[in-house]
Amino acid sequence: MTIDQTLAAITPQSRDEPDSGIVKAAMYGFTVPGVIPLWAGEGNLPTPEIFARPATEALLNGETFYTWQRGIPELRDALARYHQRTFGRVFSPENFFVTSGGMQSIQTIVQMVAGEGDEILIPTPAWPNYGGALRILGSRPVEVPMDFRNGRWILDLDRLFDTITPRTRAISLNSPSNPVGWTATLDELKAIRDECRKRGLWILGDEVYSRFYYGERGETRAPSFLDICDDEEQVLLANTFSKNWAMTGWRVGWLQAPKALGPAIERIIQVNSSGTPAFLQRGCVAALDHGDAFLAEQVAKARGNRDLVVRMLGDMPGVRFEVPKGAFYLFFALEGMTDGDLTVRRIIDEAKVGFAPGSTFGQGGEGYLRMCYLRDPAKIEEALTRFGDWLKNHRPS
Ligand SMILES: Cc1ncc(COP(=O)(O)O)c(C=O)c1O
Repeated sequence: MTIDQTLAAITPQSRDEPDSGIVKAAMYGFTVPGVIPLWAGEGNLPTPEIFARPATEALLNGETFYTWQRGIPELRDALARYHQRTFGRVFSPENFFVTSGGMQSIQTIVQMVAGEGDEILIPTPAWPNYGGALRILGSRPVEVPMDFRNGRWILDLDRLFDTITPRTRAISLNSPSNPVGWTATLDELKAIRDECRKRGLWILGDEVYSRFYYGERGETRAPSFLDICDDEEQVLLANTFSKNWAMTGWRVGWLQAPKALGPAIERIIQVNSSGTPAFLQRGCVAALDHGDAFLAEQVAKARGNRDLVVRMLGDMPGVRFEVPKGAFYLFFALEGMTDGDLTVRRIIDEAKVGFAPGSTFGQGGEGYLRMCYLRDPAKIEEALTRFGDWLKNHRPS
C-alpha cells in the first residue's frame, strides 16, 4: 500500500484532525539547541520525592496488576478529603473516578454525553484538545469566541446562550482559562448553571487551574461550580494531578460526576484504558495528603512570575494583553503578526525562545502568542530579554 492508500483507509476524523500548534512548536523547538521552552503547560520542576516514593515502592512491591476501574478506594477517599479541605463542605468518594490524565477525564465525559453530530459549546480561545476530543468522536465543538475589549477578555453570556441549539448537549467552561487566564465570577457560574438547568444541558467544568488563582483577597482557589452546584446534578468536572503537583508525565487525573453515573463511567474506562496503574495512584494519594505546602510554593512562584512577565512584556512596543487572573500563561497579541506558526518558528530560530501560536486555541486566538510562566524565574527573565531584543530588530510574520 502507498502512503496515500494507507491514509485513505483510516477514518477522516483521525486523518484530518489538525496538529496541535503547541505540539508542533515543541517538535520544531526540540531540534534547535539553546531554546528556552515556554510552549507547554507545565512547570520546570520534577515531581517531588514525597509523591514519587510511594509510587516507586508500590511498583517494587508488586502492585502491578489490573485494578479498580474507578480508581483505588484509598485515592478516592483522599480526593474526598482534599475537596473537603479546599471547598469547606463534605464530599463522597463515590463521586470521584480516577482517570489516565485530565485528558481521559474529558474524553470520558464526551463519550458519555455527546453522540454523533451532537454539539458542545466551547468559549474560545480554548485549550485545543477539547475540539480534538470531540471531533475524533464524531461530535461537534461549537466555538463561542470571547471578546478582547478595553484590555479585558469578556465572555458574553447572551451570545453563549444564543448559540444553544436542539443538538447542544453541554456547555464546557474552563476557568481559570488556558490560555487567557480569564476566571469566571460566581455570578457568571450561577448564570451558566441556571441556563443549563433550564435547558437540561450538562455542564462540562474544567477547573484544573483552580488553585492557580491570583485574587486580591488572599483566596486560595478560584470560584467553582462546586460552590453552587449539587453533587448529583448535571455537572461533570474534569481534573488532574498534572498541574498542582508537578505530575504532567504521570498521566493521572480524575472525573467528578453524579454517583448514578458510576457504572457507565466504569464501562467507558474499561474499554478505553481498563484503569489507571495502581502504583501511580499511591503517589497521587501522597500528593493529595501531603502536597499542600508544595502547591502553595508553586502558586507563589507562579504569581511572582506573572508579575515579572507582565512587567517585562508591558514595556515592549506592539505587545498587548490582559493581566491573567489565574492559570499560568500569558496570552499576548503581537502587532502586525498575521502568521503565528511562522512567527513562532522564527522566534525559536532567531531569539531561541519557544512560544505557542494563539491560532491553535481557536477563534479569537489569531494574532496572539502564548507563553507558560511556571518556570525558573531566571530563565523567564532571560527568555523575555532575548524576545525584547528580537522585537527591536525584527518584524513578526
Ligand atoms: C485546560 C486544561 N484542561 C485539562 C488539561 C489536561 O491535563 P492532563 O491531561 O495533563 O492531566 C490541560 C492540560 O494542559 C488543560 O490545559
